[in-house]
Amino acid sequence: MNVIDLRSDTVTLPTQEMLEAIMQAKLGDDVSGEDPTVNELQELAARTFGAEDALLVTSGTQGNLVAMMTHCRRGDEVLVESEAHIYYYEVGNMASVAGLVPRLIKGDHGRFTGDQVRHAARGRDLHFPPSRLLALENTHNRAGGTCWTPAQVADVSEAAHELGMKVHVDGARIFNAAVALDVPVSDYMRHVDSIQFCLSKGLSCPVGSLLVGSHEFIEAARKNRKMVGGGMRQAGIIAAPGIVALNTMVSRLAEDHANARRLVDNLEVLEEVVIDRESVQTNIVVADISATGLTPDEFVARTRKEGLLVTKFGETTVRFVTHRGITAEDVDRAAMIVESVLPACRSGVCSI
Ligand SMILES: Cc1ncc(COP(=O)(O)O)c(C=O)c1O
Repeated sequence: MNVIDLRSDTVTLPTQEMLEAIMQAKLGDDVSGEDPTVNELQELAARTFGAEDALLVTSGTQGNLVAMMTHCRRGDEVLVESEAHIYYYEVGNMASVAGLVPRLIKGDHGRFTGDQVRHAARGRDLHFPPSRLLALENTHNRAGGTCWTPAQVADVSEAAHELGMKVHVDGARIFNAAVALDVPVSDYMRHVDSIQFCLSKGLSCPVGSLLVGSHEFIEAARKNRKMVGGGMRQAGIIAAPGIVALNTMVSRLAEDHANARRLVDNLEVLEEVVIDRESVQTNIVVADISATGLTPDEFVARTRKEGLLVTKFGETTVRFVTHRGITAEDVDRAAMIVESVLPACRSGVCSI
């Protein structure tokens, strides 16, 4: 059976060109700054974002952690959206490793406003931890891959900067946002202090993320990366596919977005599968399946049996993610599989 894997864009495998780039990569000891391929990727990333400098890190989680450690001191407060990956999925490292306190902002489709930042930030008071950092997520994973526009980022960043805070973007999928809105990623960078983006998601690399920011920030981040075990040696084998990705894999993300919209068009025909269309802006589709009578675990198990892999995403939701290797035909078949596993409630004769 040809399995359709829509669990995540992290399942993408490297392309032939990436594998060849790994084979050809010139290598050196990156802890001493001597890996030419890492240096080339970092320069390319900095140029692409219009930033002064960049740093290769092992993962999105490590990039976000290192950014927080670099911007903040232990005991500081980080303003972050209530379902942001940094808060929700990164093992509480902001508290356990960096010693930071999260203060949550409730977003609308993962986004919030400058006024919400002004409201959430704490003034100087003996009792309060200093609000030091604002962290945004673009695209916002749990909100369904929603995008911030550069103007929305400018609005919250202006508020944060006025209040003396720095701004970090968890841009694991920032290229999806840039492609969806047809803006260069540098339009985001100009408003913020750092961005983390992943090579290992829709860009199809096997591993790696980058942090971009000022020389001063990257210099300090390099030391924090070392502290959390991210000083890598011949890391050019990670960087080489990253160069291929930045040069050749960005614009194709539009195909993944088109396939996500196609999947929604197909699934919307099924009344029991409810999707907030406004949230479908990139390659992620979150569906509420409570009306099917199935729990997410049951839904996931049933589709798996039929050759469709999806992720349980909440008490009543499942997530589908399109990516390289998934075709329009695959998403059509995925929707047919979903229809085939629904209990027979639609005819009024419920089998459950
Ligand atoms: C929005 C977001 N940020 C950060 C990460 C963490 O990336 P990694 O899995 O490379 O640690 C992810 C991973 O899915 C993500 O979706």
